Amino acid sequence: MLKNIALGLLVVVFLSACHFKKKASGDATKTMDTMIVKDVHTLSNADSVQMQHLELNIKVDMDKKQISGCAVWTINNQKNARQLVLDTYDLTIDSVTVDGKSVPYTLDAKIKFLGSALRIPITAGSKSVSICYKTGSDARALQWLDAQQTHDKKHPFLYTQSESIYARSWIPCADGPGIRFTYNAHVQVPKGLMALMSALNTQEVSADGNYDFEMNLPIPAYLMALAVGDITFKSIDDRTGVYAEPGMIEKSRYEFEDVGKMVNTAEQLYGPYRWGRYDVLVLPPGFPIGGMENPRLTFCTPTVIAGDRSLVSLIAHELAHSWSGNLVTNATWDDFWLNEGFTDYFERRIIEQMLGKSYSDMLWELGYQDLVDNVKELGDKSKDTWLKLDLKGRDPDDGLTDIPYEKGSHFLKLIENTVGRDRFDRFLVKYFDEHAFKTMTTEAFLTYMDTTLLKDDSESKKTLKINAWVYGPGIPPNCPRADQERFMRVDSERIKFLNDIPAAQLNVTDWTTHEWLQFLRKMPPALSVVQMKKLDDAFMFRTTGNSEIADLWFIMAVRANYTAPYPEMEQFLSTVGRRKFLEPLYGEMMKTPHGTEMAKRLYAKYRKNYHPLAQESLDKMIMKK
Ligand code: BES
Ligand code: ZN
Repeated sequence: MLKNIALGLLVVVFLSACHFKKKASGDATKTMDTMIVKDVHTLSNADSVQMQHLELNIKVDMDKKQISGCAVWTINNQKNARQLVLDTYDLTIDSVTVDGKSVPYTLDAKIKFLGSALRIPITAGSKSVSICYKTGSDARALQWLDAQQTHDKKHPFLYTQSESIYARSWIPCADGPGIRFTYNAHVQVPKGLMALMSALNTQEVSADGNYDFEMNLPIPAYLMALAVGDITFKSIDDRTGVYAEPGMIEKSRYEFEDVGKMVNTAEQLYGPYRWGRYDVLVLPPGFPIGGMENPRLTFCTPTVIAGDRSLVSLIAHELAHSWSGNLVTNATWDDFWLNEGFTDYFERRIIEQMLGKSYSDMLWELGYQDLVDNVKELGDKSKDTWLKLDLKGRDPDDGLTDIPYEKGSHFLKLIENTVGRDRFDRFLVKYFDEHAFKTMTTEAFLTYMDTTLLKDDSESKKTLKINAWVYGPGIPPNCPRADQERFMRVDSERIKFLNDIPAAQLNVTDWTTHEWLQFLRKMPPALSVVQMKKLDDAFMFRTTGNSEIADLWFIMAVRANYTAPYPEMEQFLSTVGRRKFLEPLYGEMMKTPHGTEMAKRLYAKYRKNYHPLAQESLDKMIMKK
């Protein structure tokens, strides 16, 4: 298997994306115009064959739970490669033509995580490669929901989640973040349903179930996205709006009232929003993640609809990806912190601008706590706590920890603190502008920073200790920490409670979700059933509509063996598919024999409602024990 992976190494050549090469000593010199990067998670040879444009023509069969159709790639075989190698995962290939003529193609054996390389003979002049195919039942990108599993329970629903390497399970493609292309799509769905993509979208249901899409800006395959269902649209302002199932549209529109302002705020910080419209699609509750930054159309979990707009920082995060990630993209999944660390940093800057510094300080502090916990879990010597990851031979999902997010964003916060906000902001604006629609490696970023922001500033370089952050484990001692102004007040209320002052007498007026999280997170690990009941009676955590608080409360209930909220917990587990909530909650149950029994019973009942990727990780956690 290793040999196969080695054969499949993709070498991405960056022309003009990088003008500097870093010498081993760490100082930078202007030595070359191209840079060679290996992406070990694609089997394609898009380093030799340029993938210019995709014309996708597919039919979505909601009964058979299958996508079928043809992907037509416009290529430029400037290096005269003898084959085009594409990524596929559980696809059935029906036919392949090159410039209209059938060709003998081959499909390699499946490699774990990576799928099967599709090899298509081409010549120097080959221009158009058409692959007709069907998706398989193991397509990791696709979640097919029966009507029962949607919010409104009237129509089936389909959505894709292509990041990180799942696009290949619904489109034969060169599936690496360093490979960009434009696309058009024609999608046929059952009459009455709406289809949406990461593209220019309709706002109305078509009469005959046919939809056409265009994305004229080059994007990598992990940003390919499709959703099909009973969906309706409501406008926010002239470039933003919300899509959701009819039964969720009013609540969603209310929650996202400030999204238009958010886009304006982001632009003021880091330059123009380049993607045209910014819309948000609220998915059914089984969506396995919080949000996904599909260009022009963020996909988001309904668990952010708290009723009080208190969880919209998630939208700030997905919007920020329109710069960090979608515009300047991590070259490989080892450079994932360039996507997520920058985005977390940017998210908190948007929130600071809109809701004030004391508010964003709470986000920074909660993030810091996550970082500390995550480093503890992974081990403070673990290479998985480096910013630059090494995911060779592994599922890129393994890199999906708090490290790229929180260590990454704290590193950027440290740079901001060290060089000053104005200087750092000017640097970031330039960084996004100069590398727009290009790919970035960790090394190219460090070199760029070294030769621009930190040029002639050895003092700052000394303070930053860049290598310790990027190529070292754990949390470096110079990690910044936010002001604790609002959380200090929360802490003193908690202490009152622990000193037996009645919960009703605590001063909790105007607390937001984040104050409540701090209040609960820092409770001693083993609260008594009596204490839990007091809190529940006073603050009704059990029936809160706020998913972040509910999830934490259920975890605490399991830990304390406080059974009163178990019906609500079961209700939560029966619908919510967000891994961030499911994994710690089931994980807490698995710590005791009695809890394990409960976890197994509940999981057996609700597994079918979870996304294939959530099933994969929960199977490992629950079924194998
Ligand atoms: N791009 C990520 C989601 C992702 C990353 C999916 C890697 C698959 C592989 C998205 O922007 C994200 O970070 N979502 C977070 C929310 C955010 C507020 C931290 C999530 O889903 O929890
Ligand atoms: Zn993100």
